Amino acid sequence: MWDFFKTVRHRHSVRCYQQNMPVEAGQLHAILETAVAAPSAGDLQAYNITVITTDSDRLKLRQALLEGGEFATEAPVSLIFSADGKRSAKKFGERGERLYAGQDATIAAAYAQLAIVAAGMASTWVGAFDEERLRSALDLPEHLKPVAIICFGYPNELPEPSPRRPLNEVVSYLDD
Ligand SMILES: Cc1cc2nc3c(=O)[nH]c(=O)nc-3n(C[C@H](O)[C@H](O)[C@H](O)COP(=O)(O)O)c2cc1C
Repeated sequence: MWDFFKTVRHRHSVRCYQQNMPVEAGQLHAILETAVAAPSAGDLQAYNITVITTDSDRLKLRQALLEGGEFATEAPVSLIFSADGKRSAKKFGERGERLYAGQDATIAAAYAQLAIVAAGMASTWVGAFDEERLRSALDLPEHLKPVAIICFGYPNELPEPSPRRPLNEVVSYLDD
């Protein structure tokens, strides 16, 4: 059992996956359960997750990918996180629709990325897609706004960890 900090440190974007190692249904279920464990505004979970596991669905996904996102069609599984502005707006009005629904969806996606590592796999967050083309390819209703694709599988590459900005550049203390 990996501890949490090790899981976080081992999450690197992987864009090449083992094609002969499918993702087992139990693993996928555990990843989805972890995603929905994320906090959400008003506990509304104002998002929807579309799961892509078949070749015919990967073809649909391909129609919406932009340059830099095409590799997603090679992944055994892709999860499309869509913000549900209508759901959040019921409680929070315009702020829910404009801000909270997108935040709910992105936090859930981040939790999924960590669960994928804990399950021994690897993912990449893909933002290079055309929102309208993705909505129509997946037949998503108007109130769902796709915000992230998390594609994953068993890794077939070992990427170099990318350096991070130093904390003193990113963090400010008000009393400095
Ligand atoms: C909002 C967002 C959008 C991203 N879009 C893409 C993308 O379209 N294609 C891609 O290859 N990587 C994409 N990435 C992955 C980043 O390139 C990657 O997280 C970053 O380079 C840091 O590397 P690491 O994930 O290995 O730590 C995206 C990441 C985020 C958070």
